[in-house]
Amino acid sequence: MFIGIDLGTSSVKMILIDQEQKILATSNLALTVQNPKDGYSEQNPQEWINATLECLEILKTKKPKEFSETISIGISGHMHGATLIDNAGSVIRPCILWNDTRSHAECVEFEKQNFDVRSISGNITMPGFTAPKINWLKNNETHNFNKIFKVLLPKDYLRFYLTGEYYSEMSDASGTLWLDTKNRKWSNKLLSCSFLEEKHMPKLVEGNKDTGILKNELKDKFHFNHNVIVVGGAGDNAAAAAGMGITEQKQSFISLGTSGVFFTPTKNFLSNTGDAVHSFCHCLPNKWHLMSVMLSASNCLDWVCSITNTSIQESLTNVERFYSEKSSISNAPFFLPYLSGERTPHNDPHIRGSFHSIKTTTDTTNMQYAVIEGVSFGILDGINSILKVNNNFKDIFMVGGGSRSSFWIELLASLLNRNLSVCDQSEYGAALGVARLAMYADKNIKNKSDIIKEIKISKDYMPNLEKMDVLMKRYLTWKELYSSNKQIASRLII
Ligand code: XUL
Repeated sequence: MFIGIDLGTSSVKMILIDQEQKILATSNLALTVQNPKDGYSEQNPQEWINATLECLEILKTKKPKEFSETISIGISGHMHGATLIDNAGSVIRPCILWNDTRSHAECVEFEKQNFDVRSISGNITMPGFTAPKINWLKNNETHNFNKIFKVLLPKDYLRFYLTGEYYSEMSDASGTLWLDTKNRKWSNKLLSCSFLEEKHMPKLVEGNKDTGILKNELKDKFHFNHNVIVVGGAGDNAAAAAGMGITEQKQSFISLGTSGVFFTPTKNFLSNTGDAVHSFCHCLPNKWHLMSVMLSASNCLDWVCSITNTSIQESLTNVERFYSEKSSISNAPFFLPYLSGERTPHNDPHIRGSFHSIKTTTDTTNMQYAVIEGVSFGILDGINSILKVNNNFKDIFMVGGGSRSSFWIELLASLLNRNLSVCDQSEYGAALGVARLAMYADKNIKNKSDIIKEIKISKDYMPNLEKMDVLMKRYLTWKELYSSNKQIASRLII
């Protein structure tokens, strides 16, 4: 038996699987996020531990016999968060999360070096990443900076709690900006930009390699029969990819969740920092991936539905009817989906969302259409940024909340002029991915290459040729709207 733990931003999700990867039990507990100031996003790591212990207890209650036979555990987590540990192993302050934007000034400071920061990390310095958060700490909470013994990513702090060991793995470590992504090792040069040294970092392994065993007190508490191995695991996007079996360069996925992600594996290290493409290691050896990240995707739809007092379902039904008339799309307003700034392709923490071309005839459905279309344009922007350095991908899987809408997927298929596949997915995709990585620790599994296999496709969507022209014309106008807005946007932020 194998356990996958997914430390998400809003909940901890856990699964127990057997040797055939059959899901035997799941558990899920909510977490809270604190926003002490505009642009600040923090979490108390103790909550992760409490929820993890409770989720383990639930799995144990659901399947006590199978649970006690657990061989290994894999952990996935939300990326980039800075969890600071002092020399007594205690947490110094709340974890500063991936969607915290306080460190935009420090991003400039981090890159002011006599060497090219971006060519080592493969990435542009963005406030979401871990490194500028530490520079912010040095500038604003020097007393806390001075206490740093280790900087851990969220899932690696959970590992430290479970095993007492300081380890990370390549996929999550890529999002710190301190990794030499091509050579898969910490870069002393990049660490020096945050006034840190390699001793402040955990040791590095690949996602499918052992990082220690569960502490005795936890082994006894949960009545495990064996010494349970904890493997490296993965950052949440790489974990979701492993859960779907996306490890080869012809594959890719779009995730329409809170954030909008396009992810495709690569055989070699590639990067496109000009368009703020994320260039990270994958969670298996000798594999990398490129990723575009838009910060607000399906939450733009949640937002417009809440302020127009419409349910998501009702809105999708109305918008679908509206979309079926080609002439109505040409008259629709435009929406820039940058509710909390944007990463790919703009790297712009100052831009915010906006509607354009509102007329006396504009109604709620028109505006909701504009939101769905604007988010889809953002996904196309991301894919186009990746296409500049890599066009090897062919198949695109759809995942995340937004992928439950056939209409939205159809619109995207037409806009991207590609076939899109929806697969049998569950909210436990990342947990399954790391449970699969945990299976590499089982000496009884001889053929390890069979562990990560592609998930079943439940439906394919094809582009609607009639819609392609009008959508593409609108996309070009939409792009101009960002260019003409960006100047004023930074002046509007107070
Ligand atoms: C990736 C990113 C998010 C977080 C939270 O760069 O910031 O996907 O990992 O899910």
